Amino acid sequence: MTTVLITGANRGLGLALVQNYLEQGANVVGVARKPTASPGFKGLAAGGDRLTLLSADVTDEAALAAAARALGDRAVDIVICNAGIMSNRGGIDASGNDAADWTRVLSTNVTGAFLSARAFMPALRRAKNGKLAFISSMMASSELAAGNALGYRASKAAVANLGANLAVELKPAGIAVGIYHPGWVSSDMGGASAPVTPDASAKGLVDRIGKLSLKTTGVFEDYLGKPYAF
Ligand SMILES: NC(=O)c1ccc[n+]([C@@H]2O[C@H](COP(=O)([O-])OP(=O)(O)OC[C@H]3O[C@@H](n4cnc5c(N)ncnc54)[C@H](OP(=O)(O)O)[C@@H]3O)[C@@H](O)[C@H]2O)c1
Repeated sequence: MTTVLITGANRGLGLALVQNYLEQGANVVGVARKPTASPGFKGLAAGGDRLTLLSADVTDEAALAAAARALGDRAVDIVICNAGIMSNRGGIDASGNDAADWTRVLSTNVTGAFLSARAFMPALRRAKNGKLAFISSMMASSELAAGNALGYRASKAAVANLGANLAVELKPAGIAVGIYHPGWVSSDMGGASAPVTPDASAKGLVDRIGKLSLKTTGVFEDYLGKPYAF
């Protein structure tokens, strides 16, 4: 049975990914900052003993190491680095577009994705054909540069670059890496008017990650398979 680990699993896209993988019959490990206090997990229809909840802030190396230890010798087939935050949405002169905001967004979206991938790498290596997925954004693409939300765009470009490099580095170990734009999703981050529901995005991503292989490793595409330029 496939085991999937998802960070930022308690709401939005992460929670929809948890739900979709459970409905598919997979074992799911949901990583969240406060899993027991998260209302999203309480309403899960499927799951039972196939859902394991672990606690970690993705910027906290020690917490990630403890979560990885809690897995024991379990193999994880798919690790999805999904946890992320938005930056100040303004441009170069926006108030609040400051050092603290850049530190926050880079630390969560880039360092956090790297630390998550590294913490769960032993579990991924225990699987036969491990897959590592990064939830980036079309806002990472320099070809689509539009200004504003500069810290977020830079963070998502950096995580796409991280994925591209890890695709090369991990190929000899048989681990495929995919980089994904989930669509504009009606989560807390995307807002209520976003056209893609978390469930529709998650369904597309489950399909695309299912199709990810060593032949396509390093791919940067959206939840429907539309490719993006870095
Ligand atoms: N929504 C969109 O339109 C859209 C578009 C492109 C890309 N994305 C990307 O998709 C991913 C999911 O976003 P979403 O739309 O589902 O956003 P969301 O509803 O705001 O959820 C974000 C998730 O990330 C978690 N998180 C944030 N900081 C964390 C940290 N330091 N440690 C652990 N978990 C942390 C949150 O946990 P807490 O509840 O503890 O805060 C929450 O579970 C993000 O990487 C985002 O950048 C979203």
